Amino acid sequence: MKEKSKELVVRKIERGTVIDHIPVGQALNVIRLLGIKGGEGYTVAVVMNVDSRKHGKKDIVKVEGKELSAAEVNRIALVAPEATINVIQDFEVVKKTTVKLPDRLQGMVRCTNPSCITNKPREPVTPTFRVLSRSPLLLLCEYCGTRVLQEDVIKQYAG
Ligand code: CTP
Ligand code: ZN
Repeated sequence: MKEKSKELVVRKIERGTVIDHIPVGQALNVIRLLGIKGGEGYTVAVVMNVDSRKHGKKDIVKVEGKELSAAEVNRIALVAPEATINVIQDFEVVKKTTVKLPDRLQGMVRCTNPSCITNKPREPVTPTFRVLSRSPLLLLCEYCGTRVLQEDVIKQYAG
């Protein structure tokens, strides 16, 4: 079933990516994790707190002219573990994938403990975390036991 056009807050896009089913309040964090600051040349639409057919309310981010890399798709799961990534061409959804946040994260996030072995410049140790909670995100460093919060992860990508 297609979304009725009277329910669209923002028009359909011609080409690019629609990140749908983002938890309410996480749209700006999705944009931060993608490293989008506004000056990159993409047209970006942020839709917050709209009705979702699946459950309650949701946020949506539409990025016209951009296709996401696999790394970018994986990153979105950190703040929107049930997001749908829709690739749009000629106004049609040509590919729909659901993000996945694994139980263990390797290499995507840095440990916030400066003396963790994963932060030693000479140690080729990949930071590895156990996912304790998905929303809100809570990670446990497997090397030093530090708990890393969603806000720490966002700072690592958005400065
Ligand atoms: N969309 C868009 N521009 C297009 C096509 C789709 O902005 N040219 C948006 C739709 O508004 C919707 C999302 O992309 O928010 C996914 O579109 P579609 O698969 O048609 O909607 P649904 O069937 O409702 O998706 P789902 O089953 O994933 O909820
Ligand atoms: Zn650590």
